[in-house]
Amino acid sequence: MVLRGDRFTSDTDELVAKFTESISYDQRMYKQDIQGSIAHVKMLSRQGIIPAEDAVKVENQLKDIKLLIDAGNFEFSEKLEDIHMNIESYLINKVGEPGKRLHTARSRNDQVATDVRLYIRDEIDEMDEMIKELEKVLVTVANDNKDAILPGFTHLQNAQPVLFAHHILAYVEMFERDRTRLLDCRKRLNCCPLGSAALAGSTFPIDREFVAKELNFESITRNSMDAVSDRDFVIEVCSALSIMAMHFSRLSEDIILWMSQQFSFIDLGDAFCTGSSIMPQKKNPDIAEITRGKTGRIYGALTSILTITKGLPLTYNRDLQEDKEGVFDAIDTSKMVLAVYTKMLETIKVKKENMLKSASDPALMATDLAEWLVKQGIPFREAYYQLQSLVKYSEDTGVPMNELTLKQMQKSVPGAKEECLDMFRPESAVNAREVYGGTAPKEVARQIQFWQNRLGI
Ligand code: ARG
Repeated sequence: MVLRGDRFTSDTDELVAKFTESISYDQRMYKQDIQGSIAHVKMLSRQGIIPAEDAVKVENQLKDIKLLIDAGNFEFSEKLEDIHMNIESYLINKVGEPGKRLHTARSRNDQVATDVRLYIRDEIDEMDEMIKELEKVLVTVANDNKDAILPGFTHLQNAQPVLFAHHILAYVEMFERDRTRLLDCRKRLNCCPLGSAALAGSTFPIDREFVAKELNFESITRNSMDAVSDRDFVIEVCSALSIMAMHFSRLSEDIILWMSQQFSFIDLGDAFCTGSSIMPQKKNPDIAEITRGKTGRIYGALTSILTITKGLPLTYNRDLQEDKEGVFDAIDTSKMVLAVYTKMLETIKVKKENMLKSASDPALMATDLAEWLVKQGIPFREAYYQLQSLVKYSEDTGVPMNELTLKQMQKSVPGAKEECLDMFRPESAVNAREVYGGTAPKEVARQIQFWQNRLGI
């Protein structure tokens, strides 16, 4: 069934068919398309808009079509443009007249808007589970390496010692925000556009609430013109996935740095690294690098849908067909990254000694001594200058700060006492940061406990 009756005097050019088709990529929405059609046909029958026997025939045939596609035995045709026409055409060929009644009170405009919402909703539910799995692995890695201390950076310069677990839990916070952002998109897209028809609604006495309930939608759209032209939910999901990709990219950057010989803080399982074709010694963190690279295509999907929609007058325009490939790719890519990262992180080996060695540079504890002075009554800025001068003294004389005598120390820090000499251990520095959200082992243990309870591990 091609949508060309007497209105058209010639067939579509082959090149035009190729140019305008979406079946090559929207066929993946077949389950949602059939789900939507079954809900619609049931409603048409309940409302007495089509005969009940016809509705049953259509429903049964749609179920058969689903099985056929599941099994890979359905032949999609480019000439039939998209998934909606491919299924409707097959249905009509099979059951005849009853099939021709399915599209009563419906347009492809509200149909495709429904399918894409259902499809993205299903994918969000899958990603929700996958993010939880990733978080569980991260929390377990943190818990298994509770006592590892490494230098925390600002400006990629050694700043202050922190627990490795604290660093890892920072990513759990990010991924949890990503998860809730996706759930937030889900809430807004969970609204049924069916019944909006082409743009203005329908002349038939349809029951939109019934269809929405059948499809587990939370509500129905209030404005038919908005309903068929709105793709905010595609933009929102691409945006949430872009933010998640950015988080993955940052984690990748940390992993790549930590794996480098200069840091040598971690190792990853051989199965999750690759070698070089020329340098026999190489073991590269390719998963992290490819993940960092894939961020580009996810941002691309966001840029593309924002650009596609920006100039469109109401309501549906065919440009909107270009909404799908980007978001599908962004979802597929995100799911791959989630799956491979979860497995890769299970193999992480923490090189505690190297981390500690790097965190033991006494200069990292300069803030601790400044804060000790403040506790003795010295204004912070004054203490800060004293410490700056101590750091310079240590650099000029080449004597590390933890090897200075009390006398030497007192040249820059007149109020220094014996106990200050012991302040240059990374353990003391992390232990002292007991504030809620800080890096002290006690506090980090509390955060690990929080996540374990929340994630049920
Ligand atoms: N394949 C189209 C899309 O993806 C379906 C809607 C077509 N509607 C139309 N009026 N031509 O947007």
